[in-house]
Amino acid sequence: MATKPRIFAVVNQKGGVGKTTTSINLGTALAAVGRRVLIVDFDAQGNASTGLGISRPDRTLTSYDLVVDRVAMEKTVLSTIVPRLDIVPGDENLSGVETELATDARRSYRLRDALMDYIDRAEHGDLVKYDYILIDCPPSLSSLTLNAMTAADALLVPLQCEFLALEGLSQLMRTVEAVRSGLNPNLEIQGVVLTMYDRRNNLSDEVADQVRAHFGNKVYNTVIPRNVRLSEAPSFGKPALLYDYRCPGSEAYIRLASEVLQREKSRAA
Ligand SMILES: Nc1ncnc2c1ncn2[C@@H]1O[C@H](COP(=O)(O)OP(=O)(O)O)[C@@H](O)[C@H]1O
Ligand SMILES: [Mg+2]
Repeated sequence: MATKPRIFAVVNQKGGVGKTTTSINLGTALAAVGRRVLIVDFDAQGNASTGLGISRPDRTLTSYDLVVDRVAMEKTVLSTIVPRLDIVPGDENLSGVETELATDARRSYRLRDALMDYIDRAEHGDLVKYDYILIDCPPSLSSLTLNAMTAADALLVPLQCEFLALEGLSQLMRTVEAVRSGLNPNLEIQGVVLTMYDRRNNLSDEVADQVRAHFGNKVYNTVIPRNVRLSEAPSFGKPALLYDYRCPGSEAYIRLASEVLQREKSRAA
């Protein structure tokens, strides 16, 4: 019997903390070990799509069409240069979702409904059965992020090892609590991943310690180092894991993927 995909939302309302880098490279690392993975690009900047080499003209149907016009998901899915990794692309249309859905009382369920519709049909037909769906969220606690949190089984929270990393987290956690008490009671936190760690910077260690004190074992042991290869790769339309699979950043994402899988295994046990 096919198991349902696990759906993770990669969230943090701060921009530039590594959500998209994590979505792309964790997705690639999971695909590399044989999982079928789908990334939903849910940010109007469309960086996950760009970083996976999807050109603008190829983005004919996007996650906007998925949630606003209820287009069947398989019509929006594109394959990527990574075997077993697909994407629902995103583009600037997404910035209109908030207003488009303003009058719909069930607006926060749009993504969940779209994914569940696909998953139900995939169980009985020959649509791709994904193991993991990663939703790359925008830098806000907008309607898009609420849709992602409602659709997700669990959250993955990237935190940049910088001054004020913890700022805004209480707001994020209040949103998680609000979602749990209404839209999605079963929402879990898969984990918190420290990103852009710089071992030459004392502050990085200080932030890492603070975050571990706060989130305990929710924080992955794997820390993503600051690594220029991770920031170069998107301009080649490739995940870092294809651009340079031996760079420290790629190695860290491979370790993160095995930690994520380990947590999934102990969860299921
Ligand atoms: N570990 C890292 N080392 C160096 N640069 C990184 C790292 N992670 C992300 N970046 C770069 O930092 C910027 C912001 O990262 P991104 O993943 O787009 O964040 P977000 O999606 O949260 O806005 C991008 O230019 C990205 O290439
Ligand atoms: Mg992003």
